[in-house]
Amino acid sequence: MSSWRGLITEYKEYLPVNENTPLLTLSEGNTPLVPLEALSKEWGVEAYVKYEGANPTGSFKDRGMVMAVAKAKEEGSKTIICASTGNTSAAAAAYGARAGLRCIVVIPEGKIALGKLAQAVMYGAEVLEIKGNFDNALDIVRSISEKEAVTLVNSVNPYRIEGQKTAAFEVCDALGQAPDVLCIPVGNAGNITAYWKGFKEYHESKGTGLPEMRGFEAEGAAAIVQNQVIKEPETIATAIRIGNPASWSYAVDAAQESNGKIDYVTDDDILEAYQLLAKKEGIFAEPASCASIAGLKKQIESGEIKKGSKVVCVLTGNGLKDPSTAMDTVTVKPTVLPNDEEAFLAHIKGGVTQ
Ligand code: F0G
Repeated sequence: MSSWRGLITEYKEYLPVNENTPLLTLSEGNTPLVPLEALSKEWGVEAYVKYEGANPTGSFKDRGMVMAVAKAKEEGSKTIICASTGNTSAAAAAYGARAGLRCIVVIPEGKIALGKLAQAVMYGAEVLEIKGNFDNALDIVRSISEKEAVTLVNSVNPYRIEGQKTAAFEVCDALGQAPDVLCIPVGNAGNITAYWKGFKEYHESKGTGLPEMRGFEAEGAAAIVQNQVIKEPETIATAIRIGNPASWSYAVDAAQESNGKIDYVTDDDILEAYQLLAKKEGIFAEPASCASIAGLKKQIESGEIKKGSKVVCVLTGNGLKDPSTAMDTVTVKPTVLPNDEEAFLAHIKGGVTQ
């Protein structure tokens, strides 16, 4: 079997690639579609997760970033810039390093998961924190990119959407057709836009069908659901702490055209799903990712997602990105024992229930 060559090579015919496009790759894409065994049984559906945490920088952003950075390089750009709640900055920094470009990332002060910040600094990006939120940061970088010779690599860059749509192709290939329902977290709304584009294009070329697109915002950042900009968005899921999504209207279109819905989930729903997924399925995804699982549960309970449906939940980022939320969420902490076998045995035997 030949090994995976990365998105640009593997999906060339579906992407805006020409002979001048560098074949940039960190071997992104080709992520697993994992069946949920316990939860499917419990909830009466056939559920899978698209585990995007398996990408090289641990999130789905790699799919869009490989494309955006390759095109920036092709066009002779020397500098890329983005605003980010963390994952975009990690991906931009990694692909920027790989392509030899200067990378500037603008993040909201104090609201970035530790692992994501560690990635940006390790990959050598220039990290600028602003005393404001993601929406403020995006306003600044959009404006700068219009005035200066820098390439904006947020999802308003159309190449980002092109790269990210490939995840929909992989879902269809793994299942042999599109699922009945796709559940996906919504922040800036680029990814739901990309998946919908991908499903439509694959359906056109291969007749794979179309899913209902069900997107989930966090309650404290649910601008689309409330149909108003949220000035001070707040949620434990910092990745989707966004009050004025750039791809707002595309997300609404995706939901309407597909007979789906943009809904919200609470922080408690998200944290419950976060733990359920880890403890019952052995899958560790970051909190924002778990909005898709929380949304699935919510809409099974409401009857909007029918029993027996084939559902794919997108897990957008790896749980290791955000160790602080994990440690703050669990109540059972590591037990400290003396360096002594007897004490170990006594503890283990005492702890085992048969
Ligand atoms: N899940 C994770 C883990 C994310 O990092 C993001 C967005 C989303 C979901 C939402 O995706 O914005 O396309 O609707 N993170 C961006 C960032 C904003 O800067 O990393 P979206």
